[in-house]
Amino acid sequence: MNDRETLVIAVDGPSGAGKSSASRLVGEALGFLHVDSGALYRIMTWQCLELGTDTSSPQAVAAAVPSIEIESRADGGRIAFLVGGEEPGNRIRTPEINANASKVAAVKEVRDSITALLRGLVRFGNLVVEGRDITTAVFPDSPARFFLTASPEARAARRQKEDSEKGIANQSRDEVKASLLARDKMDSTRKFAPLRKADGVVEIDSTDMTLQEVVDAMLAALPPQFKETARR
Ligand code: DC
Repeated sequence: MNDRETLVIAVDGPSGAGKSSASRLVGEALGFLHVDSGALYRIMTWQCLELGTDTSSPQAVAAAVPSIEIESRADGGRIAFLVGGEEPGNRIRTPEINANASKVAAVKEVRDSITALLRGLVRFGNLVVEGRDITTAVFPDSPARFFLTASPEARAARRQKEDSEKGIANQSRDEVKASLLARDKMDSTRKFAPLRKADGVVEIDSTDMTLQEVVDAMLAALPPQFKETARR
């Protein structure tokens, strides 16, 4: 498959808007590989912390980037990211990573490196890629771009439920909400590729929608060539 034939669905939105669940199911429905770009920023953050890098120093973070090697592999319906041959799993889902990820994600060298990695994933085939800058910076020319939102209360409730299902981070609803809003603020106000709603994206506010309704709305809004792929 060459790059021109490869189709990419781009999905952005703040934390807890339901991007991961919806993107995974849209990918499953169409046979597109699911890409969680947030995992890459989390891996960079984890590796910086492991290396003892001061995440408040953009220069120190930038200097660490060339030594961090991330391998990508198609695995089931998704792209898996590995460090030293292993997937990090819940090691990148801790409150410590949550608290440091936005700082690391604000560093230009980190963004450039992850953007290049993400663009290279088209070699694996059709993709549904979710994140904060996918519709604006990584794949801005995709004809299938979505912006998912939900109220801060709904987002905090979902994040807390997800975390407790995964058996991680037993924070109160208010703590989850505060951490999520702090990250959103940093993600939307940073200098390089901030989270914003691009012109021409399909916006879906999922506050009062079920997951299936969100998935159906996304599938219904896809341009024809994406639906044809699904039927093949
Ligand atoms: O979606 P998430 O919570 O796993 O994202 C982790 C961090 O990475 C969060 O601070 C936002 C940032 N991020 C980003 O800047 N750009 C992306 N494309 C994806 C995530």
